[in-house]
Amino acid sequence: MALKLRDAPGFPDYIEGQTNHQFMQAAWAQGPLAIDDKGIVSVFSAEHMAMLIDDRWTRQLELEIMRASGVSGGAMYDFIRDVMLFSNDQVHRNRRGPMVKTFAHRAIAELRPEVATRCAGLIAPLVGTGSTDFLGAIAGPLPALVVASVMGAPEEEAAFFASHVYSAIRGLSIVPDDVREESTRDMAALDSYMETLVAERRARPKEDMLTSYLQRVQGGPMDENEVRAQLLALLVAGSDTTRGALTATVSQLMQNPAQWDLLVSDPERWAPAAVAEGLRFDPVIGSLARVTTERRELAGYDIPAGTIVGPSMLTALRDPAVYAEPDRFDITRTDHPRLHPIFGGGPHRCLGEALARIELEEALIALARLAPHMSLDGPPARLSGYGAVRIVSLLQVVL
Ligand code: HEM
Repeated sequence: MALKLRDAPGFPDYIEGQTNHQFMQAAWAQGPLAIDDKGIVSVFSAEHMAMLIDDRWTRQLELEIMRASGVSGGAMYDFIRDVMLFSNDQVHRNRRGPMVKTFAHRAIAELRPEVATRCAGLIAPLVGTGSTDFLGAIAGPLPALVVASVMGAPEEEAAFFASHVYSAIRGLSIVPDDVREESTRDMAALDSYMETLVAERRARPKEDMLTSYLQRVQGGPMDENEVRAQLLALLVAGSDTTRGALTATVSQLMQNPAQWDLLVSDPERWAPAAVAEGLRFDPVIGSLARVTTERRELAGYDIPAGTIVGPSMLTALRDPAVYAEPDRFDITRTDHPRLHPIFGGGPHRCLGEALARIELEEALIALARLAPHMSLDGPPARLSGYGAVRIVSLLQVVL
């Protein structure tokens, strides 16, 4: 007989000094799932995460976060209503399809030399200049520059993208009113920027991804707002994630000098492995979120339809059933699954994975080549939070 969800454990008390990982491990030690005071169910194992992000008995959240925050209009509401990430079934396919074709593997792979040049351009001038704010000088600008170039937007606009995206993104969670207002204002600014860029490109097509995307969606099922929302999705989904992942990975490498030396010994060979391990060890995504669409049993509990479930990345990526010695940062490990769970799964699996990997790998290669003696100049960076994109702290280094 399956247990009722109301009998599931809650979260344990937080013990002062615990890391996010330790707290979630303590929750997992109580049982395979835990329920919080809002009725959201966290599941911990890699196997349960894979089951829940498959769309056979769950769906993606749509406007639930907006409703829970009492928001019923404005730029952020419109974005969430129109974007692929928060849609399901045919609507999702309509929105994702043209972008998948635009983001075809070959087209992205061709960007690698340009990304490598951008990385060198950011890093080389900082070598030998003393203490450097890694987040502000390298990890933040890089994704903004790359996405600006994918869109064919002028390089000078990258700083505008970066600052507005980091502010706007906060509105994807439940936040205080003043933060929501700011984030909505910045989302509106990004949207009107995109409107201008799209109009310009339609008037004067170029040989770039934006032009090919606009040609592809011409006469299709999406309205104008949706067309812009998928473009904004690239900015929103590709900035904070890549910036946090790069900072956290570099921070881990700095704390593990033998692993850094290995990377420096052969950057091309070890960068992909260092990226995979960095993304696993301290994941930039805390958890995913889904709503169950039918009643089913999971881990001995009866889960009703309509339950919000949050598979935890923090625990799934340290699941001992998948990874040997999961608490060890080891770029030589060979037990990463073929599809890295950090990029999700099912119909919403990250569309920018290939681009993110290129950015992260090329940044590590450039650092290892140009700044092989790089060191920390302050505390290591920490990612914090349990859900969505985790917040990264500052990282001061000497290159
Ligand atoms: C380290 C970097 C990144 C990580 C860890 C990451 C992770 C993820 C995850 C977990 C999802 C699925 C969310 C869910 O299932 O609810 C996702 C979706 C998505 N990502 Fe990424 N991402 C990264 C970088 C990027 C980049 C660079 C881009 C594009 C420029 C991008 C574009 C997208 C888009 C458009 C979606 C929505 C896909 C859909 O709903 O069909 N991501 N990402």
